[in-house]
Amino acid sequence: MSRAVILGTGSCLPKRILTNEDLEKMVDTSDEWITTRTGIKTRHIAGAGEETSKLASVAARRALDMAGVTPAEVDMIVLGTISCEKAMPSCACLVQKEIEAVNAFAFDINAACSGFLYGLDLADKYIRNNPDMKILVIGAENLSARTNWQDRNTCVLFGDGAGACLVTGNDQGRGVLASQLYADGRLWELLHMDSAPSLNPDLCSQPSDGPFIKMVGKDVFRYAVRAMADAITAVLQKEGLHIADITLVVPHQANIRILKSLADHLGVPLEKIYINVHKYGNTSAATVPIAMDEANREGRLLQGDLLLICTFGGGFTWGAALVRW
Ligand code: ACO
Repeated sequence: MSRAVILGTGSCLPKRILTNEDLEKMVDTSDEWITTRTGIKTRHIAGAGEETSKLASVAARRALDMAGVTPAEVDMIVLGTISCEKAMPSCACLVQKEIEAVNAFAFDINAACSGFLYGLDLADKYIRNNPDMKILVIGAENLSARTNWQDRNTCVLFGDGAGACLVTGNDQGRGVLASQLYADGRLWELLHMDSAPSLNPDLCSQPSDGPFIKMVGKDVFRYAVRAMADAITAVLQKEGLHIADITLVVPHQANIRILKSLADHLGVPLEKIYINVHKYGNTSAATVPIAMDEANREGRLLQGDLLLICTFGGGFTWGAALVRW
């Protein structure tokens, strides 16, 4: 059976770095509070010419270069985002134009921080039917454009960036072995972001204080750890594997305490969990492909290794995937 194997990875971070010390000058916070509660030290913030689709396009080109695939060979682009510079067209269509992937169909997925994982799962399903397909799976965000910079509860957490991978079919036992996705819309209020105000007066009944990310941090924390641990157990069981078989876990990067708690739940040493949240903060759908690209380029993912991806985000959405590199 053919599965989606990752041939190339790429990522792109905006040039400007915002430190905790910079934030101390903007809101009532401290490097000590941010570091102990979140593990975050810096995040990258987009400037002119670094719109979501531009970051995504650079990441996509880097993934294509590594894979040795030309833009014209790409059949499909699926992009996870909640912060494209346009509501229409999709960010994926803007990337298609930017990189000149003239033969690809393209669309976005809104699954918040799970957007890349949802995209990878979908790409794998396409490839199981049509192994020759070459698919770009991207996660890209400019959360700085959706952050209330006066709200210390949230503005210290987020950053901008993009990551991508190029997948195609492989029938030699490599690729996405198993994946499991979940959602629970009943919990949407715990982590959400309003749209731009409605222009239809009959649809304005819900007051909005702006299109910002809002969350109930403690509840998100509690659900995130349990949900990711359960999703991991589900994919391992599907393949009859144990956590000890995994080479590297690449989880959604929201908060170092979530990652430490997850490691405790799973009984894995922290060294087996890829962590870069201290450098980039939470870049939502982009955290996993950025981390995967870094791990790949650092030589921490070699052919035959078992990679475990897990995510949790607004929706709630969550899931896990097991990938033979
Ligand atoms: N600097 C200083 N003080 C702060 C800051 C800040 N940046 N933010 C909040 N505080 C204060 C609060 O006002 C509160 O003060 P009070 O006691 O006087 O009211 C105090 O710190 C404690 O606030 P809590 O919200 O209880 O702090 P908590 O220990 O829960 O940490 C945090 C907050 C880091 C958000 C935590 O709940 C968390 O990690 N949640 C996980 C959610 C997460 O990471 N979400 C990211 C997006 S979701 C995702 O990607 C899955």
